[in-house]
Amino acid sequence: MVGKICGTGSYVPPHVMSNDDLAKIVDTNDAWIRERTGIGRRHIIKGETTSYMAGQAALKAVEDSGIDPAQIELILVATSSSETVFPCAACEVQKTIGAVHAAGYDLNAACTGFVLAFNTAQAYISAGIYKTVMVIGADSMSCMVDWTDRSTCILFGDGAGAAILCAEEGEPAFMAAHSDGVKGEALTGLSRHRGGWKPEGEDKESYIHMDGQAVFKFAVRKVPEIIEEVLSKADAELEDIDHFVLHQANRRIIEAVAKRLKTDISKFPMNLEEYANTSAATVPILLDELNRKGQLRRGEKVMLSGFGAGLTWAACLFEW
Ligand code: ACO
Repeated sequence: MVGKICGTGSYVPPHVMSNDDLAKIVDTNDAWIRERTGIGRRHIIKGETTSYMAGQAALKAVEDSGIDPAQIELILVATSSSETVFPCAACEVQKTIGAVHAAGYDLNAACTGFVLAFNTAQAYISAGIYKTVMVIGADSMSCMVDWTDRSTCILFGDGAGAAILCAEEGEPAFMAAHSDGVKGEALTGLSRHRGGWKPEGEDKESYIHMDGQAVFKFAVRKVPEIIEEVLSKADAELEDIDHFVLHQANRRIIEAVAKRLKTDISKFPMNLEEYANTSAATVPILLDELNRKGQLRRGEKVMLSGFGAGLTWAACLFEW
């Protein structure tokens, strides 16, 4: 059995912060941010929480799938910024959607989290353990950034995305994942406060610390490698892939990956101009957008790839 996506949903907070808004609080400008990252705006929580956003995305996925929430057997939430350590965000989602028969737990692999949770769900389904699994990526990066550090605060936004996997007969999903803890110092994050943007009285210990160029080089090297690894497991070719849905960290990273793979950039959809980098939420928000626009057709081959802190990176090839 394989997990087919039978419903998707996403949620971003209504409060928008443009590049011009950011230029009022740090020494930056719209042109620099767009040119170096492709980001135009980001949605930022104002009182909402990570598990609230996860629950809203999940409700939309349930509606899109038409399934009864009582059928869901497992809820996985990929997040590194839940407002509580426990209860886990997955249990909050269970309560929100009324998935009374579901087990649930959270999984943290930063920006790679959704793809790893997706792979975990596929493994459960192919082993015959579960038939219906809700997979969510949700993060409130605005709680973790240092709003006085222009090199990082411009990059992130908040949001959540969800996909429901339903067991069906069919071509298996092919996957790979790796970690490199030795290089973990390139990107670290602590979160000491919750509940949204706090530019004044910011706790200086709660921030993301990043060696931007090291992360850039890591992503541009490792993402093409893992995509080739998955293709080789599937005995497939790059030309067989219809959509490369990559973690939306930076437009230049995605363009460099497409170039290395000698694949047309049109197969690499992007939405980071609107949402920036929402960490574990970027891949499912993009999947939901493509699904709702009717841009994914049954039988098309989709390659997911996530990469981020840890360092971690993962990929999955599956049929829509
Ligand atoms: N506005 C204006 N100027 C800035 C800003 C800003 N927001 N930030 C940095 N600068 C300045 C620097 O001070 C520097 O000035 P200098 O030349 O006078 O010293 C200059 O711009 C160049 O700085 P670099 O850090 O060299 O800029 P770079 O081209 O490397 O771009 C960036 C920085 C965008 C962070 C890039 O390294 C990058 O995209 N890295 C990937 C990291 C990433 O995407 N992380 C996301 C989180 S991790 C993840 O999701 C996997």
